[in-house]
Amino acid sequence: MPRAGCRADFPALARRPGRPMIHYLDSACMSLVPRPVLRAMEEYYRDFPGCAGRSLHRFSEEVSHRFEAAREGFARFLGTRDAASIVFVRNATEAINLVGRGLSLGRGDRVLVSDQEHNSNLVLWQRLGTERGVGLDVLPLPEDGSFDLEAFEERVARGVTLVSLFHTSNLDGRSLPVAEIVERAHAHGARVLLDGCQAAPHVPIDLARLGADFYALSGHKMLGPTGTGVLAAAPGALDTLEPLLVGGETVEWTTLTEHALRPPPHRFEAGLQNYAGVLGSHAAVRYLEAAGRDTIADHDRRLNARATAALAGEDRFHPLGPADPADRPSILAFALDGVDSHDAALFLDAGHSVLVRSGRHCVHSWYDRRGLTGNVRASFYLYNDGTDVDALVRGVRELLRRTEGKGPRPPKVAPRPRAVGRRRR
Ligand SMILES: Cc1ncc(COP(=O)(O)O)c(C=O)c1O
Repeated sequence: MPRAGCRADFPALARRPGRPMIHYLDSACMSLVPRPVLRAMEEYYRDFPGCAGRSLHRFSEEVSHRFEAAREGFARFLGTRDAASIVFVRNATEAINLVGRGLSLGRGDRVLVSDQEHNSNLVLWQRLGTERGVGLDVLPLPEDGSFDLEAFEERVARGVTLVSLFHTSNLDGRSLPVAEIVERAHAHGARVLLDGCQAAPHVPIDLARLGADFYALSGHKMLGPTGTGVLAAAPGALDTLEPLLVGGETVEWTTLTEHALRPPPHRFEAGLQNYAGVLGSHAAVRYLEAAGRDTIADHDRRLNARATAALAGEDRFHPLGPADPADRPSILAFALDGVDSHDAALFLDAGHSVLVRSGRHCVHSWYDRRGLTGNVRASFYLYNDGTDVDALVRGVRELLRRTEGKGPRPPKVAPRPRAVGRRRR
């Protein structure tokens, strides 16, 4: 465990009268928030609820100072030398859209993605195809987690302008060899955007060494408040982007007919910002730094190895992606023969207080191509421990036992109203 008692820092996991112990294994969707993050947000609203860079009073001064300190905190956390290369956005989706639209791609440009990207790194490129004639190339990834650098390079050499790939997959937890990818893409003049949503919360990131042009992440997957995210860029790369939104905060001056944009990153942060969220996500960054990302990665790996080993003997249990959990440390995605993934998730929650994700994880095309309706995904983070793994294993085993030879459906659990009839992604 990163720090003994770390679990106690997360109020959502606290034991409460009448509520069983919660086993939260859905951090790949959204992580939980520790007390220092809650405190940072409350402090903002309580002690200096001003808006940065407009008014001159003390509240405004304080928040301006802390907002820029948060920028520096993220720059350090991501290994960039320059805080001006950090843009605060609402989430990774917005960061990816900012790059995709901001680069002003058009006919003749080609974007290369993998066949396993989150919709947030796919739909945009499809739309830029219909709107502006941008070409889209899709690199198939083998299911065993391997990556063929030669095949990749051959694709890039065919005139790809931008490579846009996940760093770690939300579907099966594999990571791509991003350093080699960047090197080979750059050798052919292509820029690289990495979707770091599932990597930044778990492993140290050194963007200066990595050399990726753009790196997107969501604060709410790394202990931060919802609706927070960052686009980090290589030195000078933000200068090549047009803003997604313009208006207040983005300009040096305006006349009735003209304006001058502020330099990056401010030209990309239009309107009054999510100060509480940004300060909260800075507190999250500090919490992760204190925990140590190498320690977190190691912790994930051990929990995943324990879960995978415990279930390996079940012949209806099929993990997705690399066979070795060390190659997909934060995620154990699996299918259970004869059990629908949503039914499994409801069963695990209702019967064992194990909270997992089910369905197609916003990677619809991957499942549709295989004729699958989805799978269960358990994801691990620093506040999880062996009790969570054991509860998952107990739940899955019970589910398998109760559905043995009984056809494709698990026993009916009383579904709670919120889960009924909702569109699930
Ligand atoms: C790999 C990956 N990319 C992008 C996203 C989208 O993140 P957000 O919804 O925070 O923008 C997610 C969210 O699950 C993800 O896992």
